[in-house]
Amino acid sequence: MKVGLLGLGTVGGGTAQLLLEKKEHFEELLGAELELTLAADLDASQKESLGLDDRIFTQDASRIVGNPEIDIVVETIGGMKVAKDFMLEALSAGQQVVTANKALLATHGREIHATAKANQTSVAFEAAVGGGIPLIRSIREGLLANRIESCMGILNGTSNFILTRMTQDNAPFEEVLALAQKKGYAEQDPTFDVEGVDAAHKLAIITSLVTGDYPSLEDIHMEGISKITPLDIQFANEFGFTVKLLAIMKNKGQKVQARVHPALVPHDHVLASVDGAFNALHITGDWVGDVLLYGLGAGREATASAVVADVVDLARDLLVKSRGRVPALGLAKSRGEHLEL
Ligand code: HSE
Repeated sequence: MKVGLLGLGTVGGGTAQLLLEKKEHFEELLGAELELTLAADLDASQKESLGLDDRIFTQDASRIVGNPEIDIVVETIGGMKVAKDFMLEALSAGQQVVTANKALLATHGREIHATAKANQTSVAFEAAVGGGIPLIRSIREGLLANRIESCMGILNGTSNFILTRMTQDNAPFEEVLALAQKKGYAEQDPTFDVEGVDAAHKLAIITSLVTGDYPSLEDIHMEGISKITPLDIQFANEFGFTVKLLAIMKNKGQKVQARVHPALVPHDHVLASVDGAFNALHITGDWVGDVLLYGLGAGREATASAVVADVVDLARDLLVKSRGRVPALGLAKSRGEHLEL
């Protein structure tokens, strides 16, 4: 299985490193070779900083997109136009695609999934929502027997990091935002994080899993945290509340309501203790009842973990198609070799 990676920024760089570092582990899981064949970025300095081999690094994305030798294309460029063009071209050429691009899916998800379907290929997007939390898989697979009645949670690591530092250290907004950018949590355009747009993109994707179609972003009420002052946080605290940016989806049968806004969360509510760049999603299903998913929602390692899970999963699907059978995931020796029972 050959993988081509587009974009070597925070998430793409982490993905390259993880694919190379744990190559043997993934190959054992698959029972087949999994090779990072090409990794493209316009910025040549990424080659040095990631220690990439000359044979792997390229500045020419066209060596990956549409190349019949590359089975799986990973899009970690971000942004809209270029990422969309590459993704549609790869899907039209029958390549499998992995993306972490929630803005693109929330805006053009229908077209992207329709193109995948028309070309009998797939788009995997676990990393687009909730960073390292296997949130998409949980809703799509683990909870498939359920009618999802509601989802409520914290889906933007940057704004949660800012609110946490403002609450705990009384730190000024701008200073914490700069720190979140330095840590690789924030979007290229951080207004997406602080104005609720990124959380709304993720909520649109979750909603599409629940209803089978993407909602229009205009139908999602969006309000961010940029107007929240340390005084608001202090008063909320005195009354027993923590300020959190919540993303909420309610499935009312004929109609789905989706909204993102700051909310006063009682100190003893489980979401009040979700701090820093962590995300959490509280899901209610008609048979399962309440489920809480929690983990790092942003950052290089956590997000690369989700991207690579999709890569291995798609590789496995391809192997099943071509060979009819591969070892079951999760049974690799390397996962258990340090365990003593
Ligand atoms: N900017 C996003 C966040 C990155 O802060 O949650 C992960 O999607």
